[in-house]
Amino acid sequence: MGNRRISHLLSLVKSSAHGKIILFGEHAVVYNRPALAVPVTQVHADVEVSESPRAGIFIDAPNIDLHAELNSLPADHPIASVILKVFPHPLPLSLRERGWGEGGLNISITSTIPVASGLGSGAAVSIALIRALSSFLSRPITDSEVNSIAFEIEKFHHGTPSGIDNTVIAYNKPVYFIKGQPIETFKTGKPFTIVIGDTGISAPTKESVGDVRRLWLRDTNTFENYFNEIAQIALIARRSIESGRPELLGELMDQNHALLQCLTVSSPELDKLVKAARNAGALGAKLSGGGRGGNMIALAEQAQAESVAQALMSAGAKRTIITEIT
Ligand code: PMV
Repeated sequence: MGNRRISHLLSLVKSSAHGKIILFGEHAVVYNRPALAVPVTQVHADVEVSESPRAGIFIDAPNIDLHAELNSLPADHPIASVILKVFPHPLPLSLRERGWGEGGLNISITSTIPVASGLGSGAAVSIALIRALSSFLSRPITDSEVNSIAFEIEKFHHGTPSGIDNTVIAYNKPVYFIKGQPIETFKTGKPFTIVIGDTGISAPTKESVGDVRRLWLRDTNTFENYFNEIAQIALIARRSIESGRPELLGELMDQNHALLQCLTVSSPELDKLVKAARNAGALGAKLSGGGRGGNMIALAEQAQAESVAQALMSAGAKRTIITEIT
């Protein structure tokens, strides 16, 4: 009994994954154009896995009001599908191999990343869970393996994702991302400050991506041109960041936002926050992620960031995050 208790205490593993924000190139990235994204360390998903004397795999995820045993969930449930991907064999077998008799697992999942808002909440939960489960079974896993599993899960739930969310979060680094190509990170020549404003409207990325696809099919030339212009912006943005001239990003954000409006993925609420940020002295602003709701970002001088954040709250933002990109 004593041993069992010790092994129970020893067999608690924790893992955490940060959120992310897309700086430039969303939507066009689905069509093989480059996009830039960075981790947002102020928000994170946290997973704890521990052995339990009761048989079964119990998941406790209060943020989404989920308190269930794995077998009671459909196999395509976002959390069940991650667990089943990491453990192709029945998990209790692995536990028996570890001398834990008929016991089971408790999995606790919490997150400070708002859901469906462009901050990568789904990918962060998947990644923290993949790492925690692998570590629980003492199976080393590389960032690249974590990234591939998380991408499978994203495809399962989001249709045709570019893979940018899982890549930034799995590697926890700024990335210059082109779908299907090896990961490229980039360095910042000079730190800069981004203010993130949340409309509080949860908007499934799958829908805006589907709508853009329908429009692209109907008017391919026009949309290909929009994507090319966005790609150009992403390229110049990367150069500006690397060469230590981040102040140039403001104008690029404004241009990117105008193109996202052409793609029909902005919304009155996003436009209102973008305008409020600019009026409060931001150097530029744009929506970020799938659009229609979720978050927008603004480039601000460090000294201005707080007043830009306040202006966003006055214009209806549900919350703001000030983050330094270094
Ligand atoms: O809404 P988010 O942050 O998950 O971003 C989606 C980004 C898109 O380019 C719209 C879709 C994708 O898969 O890249």
